[in-house]
Amino acid sequence: MAKKRSKQVVSASSSQRSQPLKPSSRSSVKSHTNRQRGVTTTFCILFFIVSLLIYRQKYSNTASTTVVDDADKPYVYQRALVKTDSTYSDILNENTNVSENISRRHFENPILAYITPWNSKGYDLAKKFSSKITHLSPVWYDLKNEGSKLVLHGRHNADRGWISDIRMKGNALILPRVVLEANPLDLLEKKRLREKAINLIITECKEMEYDGIVLESWSRWVAYGILHNSDMRNLALQFVKQLGEAMHSVHLKRNGKTNLQLVYVIGPPRTDKLQEHDFGPEDLQALYDAVDGFSLMTYDHSSPYNPGPNAPLKWVRSTLRLLVGAGSKGRRLAEKIFVGINFYGNDFVLSGGLGGGPITAHKYLYLLEQHKPVIQWEEESAEHFFLYSDNQHVQHAVFYPSLMSLAMRLQEALSWGAGISVWEIGQGLEYFFDIL
Ligand SMILES: *[C@@H]1O[C@H](CO)[C@@H](O)[C@H](O)[C@H]1NC(C)=O
Ligand SMILES: *[C@@H]1O[C@H](CO)[C@@H](O)[C@H](O)[C@H]1NC(C)=O
Repeated sequence: MAKKRSKQVVSASSSQRSQPLKPSSRSSVKSHTNRQRGVTTTFCILFFIVSLLIYRQKYSNTASTTVVDDADKPYVYQRALVKTDSTYSDILNENTNVSENISRRHFENPILAYITPWNSKGYDLAKKFSSKITHLSPVWYDLKNEGSKLVLHGRHNADRGWISDIRMKGNALILPRVVLEANPLDLLEKKRLREKAINLIITECKEMEYDGIVLESWSRWVAYGILHNSDMRNLALQFVKQLGEAMHSVHLKRNGKTNLQLVYVIGPPRTDKLQEHDFGPEDLQALYDAVDGFSLMTYDHSSPYNPGPNAPLKWVRSTLRLLVGAGSKGRRLAEKIFVGINFYGNDFVLSGGLGGGPITAHKYLYLLEQHKPVIQWEEESAEHFFLYSDNQHVQHAVFYPSLMSLAMRLQEALSWGAGISVWEIGQGLEYFFDIL
């Protein structure tokens, strides 16, 4: 996941750049004593002048680059659509409009995009915006038990025409997702089965010319309740390492990538304190060298039983802090993380019994047309939502991503040096791609 990084900053945060100056000069003025007053005052004045100069220079740089950049800015920024006070008509009118140049990338770090066979819109968007996407993960495979055998299901989902279109258009790596459904008690304890599993995956990659896979197994291992046992947990980690190492030893010629890649799916801890079965910082470090990236599922924070925002920004941030820690070491670890971003929303029922669930772009736009709601910004979570009542007079709350919520999450990922992973691109609005 090597990448170049420039100083480009998502303009959502540009207003914050000059703030640190004020508090520091104020607090130094407050803290002085009589004896020190002269020195402190001189120092303060000097500091103030220097700060002012730096500030001016910064400001003028910002101002001039803004002017220069203006025509280069994504369409949605030129139209000032990335804002908290968004309206339903803005969204209805503009959601399919994007910059003329759809190959220019605005987010510097890697972008992993999931696509599902049951939503063909994702395949089309992946083709259209392929140069903005670095890793594509079609959700195609399951590794299962069949009697005493292991079988890799899903080849029938693979769309060769689409793969070759993607290959022609850009450099996105194709890493189909494989879910490890097989019973881990057998798989992890028997060397023969572990080797068989690895062999099935690598053979499929070779035959289909994939660049690697995205592996999801942790959630299954949680479901089987094996991770409480430290021997089993070690075997589990060993298996992922062994797979990663085996994949890395397979050389490819395409794209200048030298070997098959392994991206590993991890879930966010559900509580402030790590539970035994959670994927924690030690697990991350244990796997760090053997995998090429971690797809962190920072979404689904709310549910019909607990309606609310899908991925509160503070929670995303605290999850990252918990997993990688702070400082430069944290930054190094975060470089392999794809911070999860939902392109779907939720329509929750608020009265007359709880219910509701995920919605995609189509339903969202339909609800905007039907109800012409007031779109509200929720500061705490940094998400937009609206309320409506249906024809049975049942109250609903709809949380769905917006340009603003997306911009703030991109900014957060950038500040960690991390990439993003989107579940699932076909469920979002087309103009979301404009800021990627
Ligand atoms: C945005 O798209 C809509 C329909 O797709 C179109 O009518 C409208 O003119 C577009 N707006 C701009 C500013 O291009
Ligand atoms: C679009 O953007 C890409 C990447 O920045 C650039 O290489 C290309 O020349 C641009 N195309 C046009 C038509 O401006």
